[in-house]
Amino acid sequence: MLNWDDPLAPLPADTTSPKTAPAEPATAAPAPVDTAPPASAEAVAPTAEPAVAAEPETVAAELPPIARPEVRRPEINPVAAKPVNPEDKRVVNGMTDINQLAPFKYPWAWEYFLNANKNHWTPLDINMSQDIHDYNHKLTLEERHLYENVLSYLTTSDILAMRNIGLAVMEKMTAPELQIYQARQVYEESMHTWTYQHCIETLGLDQGEIYNRYRVVPEIHHKINLCNSKLDSVLRADIDLNDRDELENFVMAYTFFAGVFEGTWFYNGFTPIFALQRRGLMKGTAEQFQYIMRDEVLHASFGIRVCNQIIKEENLKIDPVAIQHMWEEAEAAEEAYARFLMPDPILGYSADDHIAQFRFVANRRARKLNHKEPFPGAENALPWLDEQANLKKEKNFFETRVTEYQTGGALSWD
Ligand SMILES: [Fe+2]
Ligand SMILES: [Fe+2]
Repeated sequence: MLNWDDPLAPLPADTTSPKTAPAEPATAAPAPVDTAPPASAEAVAPTAEPAVAAEPETVAAELPPIARPEVRRPEINPVAAKPVNPEDKRVVNGMTDINQLAPFKYPWAWEYFLNANKNHWTPLDINMSQDIHDYNHKLTLEERHLYENVLSYLTTSDILAMRNIGLAVMEKMTAPELQIYQARQVYEESMHTWTYQHCIETLGLDQGEIYNRYRVVPEIHHKINLCNSKLDSVLRADIDLNDRDELENFVMAYTFFAGVFEGTWFYNGFTPIFALQRRGLMKGTAEQFQYIMRDEVLHASFGIRVCNQIIKEENLKIDPVAIQHMWEEAEAAEEAYARFLMPDPILGYSADDHIAQFRFVANRRARKLNHKEPFPGAENALPWLDEQANLKKEKNFFETRVTEYQTGGALSWD
């Protein structure tokens, strides 16, 4: 192993130039390392200079002259020198300087970034020890099936969410205040993936089996597949958002990710675990999911706002039939998934509850997106959900860390 205190070994001898090397005092340099055997006793005279000390003039004479580059003086581009007018900023297809944060055109985006930073946590902050006991000794087989498959769906989903926002969406934004929140969102999605992985490792589940379930369980696969098809349609190098069809497809895909994927599938996706939490089971996992849910509420709300802004700025007309189809397709996928999770109800929760709540939350997201309610008359089947999700955490983690999550009272679920 290298040690910083060891003397440096000299470079290997250059056997092509020893005859031109001038003699130096023997103490001027460490003894050379010469791996080649000497040709004779005369060749290793003690005062011989290491071969690396070639005569500089000889080497320089063999090199071509170095062309000196012309040093350009800094110049000001008269166009770039013009101050950024925030009114010129656009969500997409903008021409203002993407490296200049302020002045803001979208100050709300900066507020999202500041708020997101108030929900700072890691999965290691939460005590999972009771979950190990619950999983092994208290959950029924049906509840284990539910728990494992919720994890299985979520693990794949959050990777998808990260890739969507980081690779497909963020690069198309032309106002930096939007990108900076989305950069935070990318980090949060990776944190969520860490959380699921932490749960899997803590409980000693077979991670290969859990991660592969989405490939072999059609009801999970179908949801992931729907997301992948939207992502693939906008994760292409040849997209030109000046093309109206491309722009409309991009807005539809972002609407799906914000409104359906994060706004309902994620929001509702934690509910089965919260149902266990209400019975005092798997409370560590549920607490982890409460933190994730807070992030997801911001992600959905931000994405919806960005989509609405693009539609306004670009005077886009989104096909209401396509929108209704999106919601119904999402409902069908969620219903199949819920019936796979719970072929029969568990204590205090059922597939019917899950689907009813999906419709209620979908209407809420649709109103924010200025869509017609896709499921008129849907009722709040789980009035405890918002309360359960609205974590106000002002306790000490393990009595060592004082943490106040200030946004708890500031979140608006509408
Ligand atoms: Fe996430
Ligand atoms: Fe998200």
